[in-house]
Amino acid sequence: MSVIQFELNGHSQSIEAQDNDNLLDILRNHCGQKSARYGCGLSQCGACHVMVDGHAVPACSTPMWSVADKKVVTLEGLGQESQPHPLQTAFCQQQAAQCGYCSSGMLMTAAALLKHNPRPTPEQVREALQGNLCRCGAHNRIVRAVCQAAQEMEGA
Ligand code: FES
Ligand code: FES
Repeated sequence: MSVIQFELNGHSQSIEAQDNDNLLDILRNHCGQKSARYGCGLSQCGACHVMVDGHAVPACSTPMWSVADKKVVTLEGLGQESQPHPLQTAFCQQQAAQCGYCSSGMLMTAAALLKHNPRPTPEQVREALQGNLCRCGAHNRIVRAVCQAAQEMEGA
């Protein structure tokens, strides 16, 4: 057991964790952050993606100790209901979800992409979202939503 300090959605956190605890379990079970979902547990589906220091990572296979002193952002920290992130608005407008299970991971991967590439082509969006699976088949609408958000953010 060790104490891990990190930043979560702009607030400092101090968590007691076992050596084999992963970020997803800690976020969901100890930090009240339920947006990141458990899908495969094997870095294969993207349902659990969050941002660590601006990069999308699979929280299911990110050891808790590895985020010490880093900045973690979950969907809860991306936007608020009263002030949604442009990606969240675009996902709603493009109806880029069906069951929604993949949405949090999709949004966090897309948010990380736009941080590093503010005006991606549809092909670059598809490439960035390769590790995010949508079993409902909403991929085309998701790509359109990410491109729409990029345009809106650029014009803001
Ligand atoms: S649950 Fe983490 S990648 Fe699938
Ligand atoms: S909307 Fe159902 S898995 Fe993507």
